[in-house]
Amino acid sequence: MKVAVIGAAGGIGQALALLLKNRLPAGSDLALYDIAPVTPGVAVDLSHIPTPVSIKGYCGEDPSPALEGADVVLISAGVARKPGMDRSDLFNVNAGIVRSLSEKIADVCPKALVGIITNPVNTTVAIAAEVLKAKGVYDKNRLFGVTTLDIIRSETFVAELKDKDPGQVRVPVIGGHSGVTILPLLSQVEGVEFTEEEVAALTPRIQNAGTEVVEAKAGGGSATLSMGQAACRFGLSLVRAAQGEEGVVECAYVEGDGKYARFFAQPVRLGKNGVEEILDHGPLSAFEQNALDAMLDTLRNDIKLGEEFVK
Ligand code: NAD
Ligand code: LMR
Repeated sequence: MKVAVIGAAGGIGQALALLLKNRLPAGSDLALYDIAPVTPGVAVDLSHIPTPVSIKGYCGEDPSPALEGADVVLISAGVARKPGMDRSDLFNVNAGIVRSLSEKIADVCPKALVGIITNPVNTTVAIAAEVLKAKGVYDKNRLFGVTTLDIIRSETFVAELKDKDPGQVRVPVIGGHSGVTILPLLSQVEGVEFTEEEVAALTPRIQNAGTEVVEAKAGGGSATLSMGQAACRFGLSLVRAAQGEEGVVECAYVEGDGKYARFFAQPVRLGKNGVEEILDHGPLSAFEQNALDAMLDTLRNDIKLGEEFVK
């Protein structure tokens, strides 16, 4: 498998590249691309780690050499939040970055499985979809908004609260990736009961966890290391499924049946060609149903913004 990390010199990109260098299956190729001139050096640095994964780094205006032959492309290129900003404030810069990278993907590796990390994810995924569609290569099963950070945060916070092993806790998170559109399904965590007060406190903690990091970094950016971990988990799931492993399930922001919105984060079963099956999110508690109903206008508007940007 060839995995391309785009935005690879950034905070997420470097953490993700380090993890992938260590965890991709033997014989994989890792390609790093960023406009930053340091990128080939990042690859040289990582190449000294003794794992059977080859690595090359590219910089400059053209991502094509990194994209050529890529099976999986993970995009974290773009600007990150500072305190006081909302993810939607990143749209002005990041929309154009995702548009031009998507054009290159359409030309160079149209069959790749593409995971978008760049915020605002609710909107940038719609941008990528519209660009790929305009180029005649859109396959909704191959495009993903990466929402895995919401999952790993939920698993961590639940484990802390309930004194569990975080590795054993599973929390589906549906909706999107900003504020009220992030909906952890705490009612579905196996072997754990929550009081109404716990749900009322834990849900906004998970929804605001990105802001918690942005404020703690005090102008130095947003989550990078936990996001590197999350993107590595998701990227490896794409790779494992593409290599034929059965039963690989992740929550991701994908174009599904449109029941709630064109794009919606939900559990999906992955296979050789990306999404094999959209899985039912299961029964919702009254709290979760209310939260779902309340998020839909926001989510649909975020998606429309991306669609209209490309048109
Ligand atoms: P960063 O500033 O550390 O890194 C971004 C990198 O993108 C930089 O190295 C920059 O040179 C590069 N870049 C900019 N334009 C580019 C282009 N056209 N082509 C290639 N590379 C380009 O930022 P970061 O902390 O790594 O965050 C990156 C993005 O990920 C932000 O938009 C952030 O909001 C988002 N993010 C998403 C999640 C999520 O859960 N999906 C989590 C954390 C951060
Ligand atoms: C996160 O959830 O940490 C990311 O989306 C980055 C951010 O701006 O919060």
